Amino acid sequence: MINMNAKYRDTYEALADLMPFEPEICIILGSGLGDFAEKVETVKSIPTSSLPQYPRSTVQGHQGYLHFSKYQNKNLLIVQGRIHFYEGYTLSQCVLPVYLSSKLNCVNIILTNAAGGVNSNFNPGDLMLATSFNGSNIKKELTDLIGLVNLSQRNDFLDFPSKEINRIIINAALEEKIKLQEGVYWLTKGPSYETPAEVRMIRSFGGDAVGMSTVHEAIYASTLGMKASSISCITNFAAGLSDQKLSHTEVMETAERVKSDFERLVKKTIELL
Ligand code: HPA
Repeated sequence: MINMNAKYRDTYEALADLMPFEPEICIILGSGLGDFAEKVETVKSIPTSSLPQYPRSTVQGHQGYLHFSKYQNKNLLIVQGRIHFYEGYTLSQCVLPVYLSSKLNCVNIILTNAAGGVNSNFNPGDLMLATSFNGSNIKKELTDLIGLVNLSQRNDFLDFPSKEINRIIINAALEEKIKLQEGVYWLTKGPSYETPAEVRMIRSFGGDAVGMSTVHEAIYASTLGMKASSISCITNFAAGLSDQKLSHTEVMETAERVKSDFERLVKKTIELL
């Protein structure tokens, strides 16, 4: 088991010294969705490079900042610059923003991401609320992180995604008249996109969207007693479902196209939380 308190004490202490207030809602921004940070009032932005032990984000579209922000009188911690498995980081590094938000007493966490559409009813530009996740391909890493006993005892009663926040996100979409798909978010670790055969397998296993983040963050947040939900921006048809070759550029371009709906949905969710 990894002792996160010991491993990241310096990171937490440096952040606690700099923070202007205790955040109540944490929002992790996915690929191409980083602009959201500029759409709410920023009180203080902390470059993650100034925090000891904080991993560097190497992905285009993932600047490394922790923003302490406000919207509708709610105190937010916005994480711009996610840490991924495919950058070579370990699970304990990938969940560091979740760990820090929990240490700062955040109770709600909204995980956003770019994902490929596996369900043939999904189109690039759709937004999808996660109703469930796969966790099987990270069992070993999770066990290393939180311990076998903890994992086996907790898996059956963890509430993730949070039913309460999911209900709020559905209401936010209704109020804002935004079409919201619902489905299973399927984690693959990358670094490459899936093969068409893998996408067929994911579909047959019940996956609706595929991406390289979020699941471990949601599971870990739940083990810390946080309420976690996930909103995906479907940026492309998953491999094999269209003739177009997959690229990070397509992911970024679609995210750019839907960012105003995404922004309205997340803002309304914050307001209703
Ligand atoms: N697969 C995995 N991750 C992704 C995809 C995809 O098709 N699109 C955006 N992130």
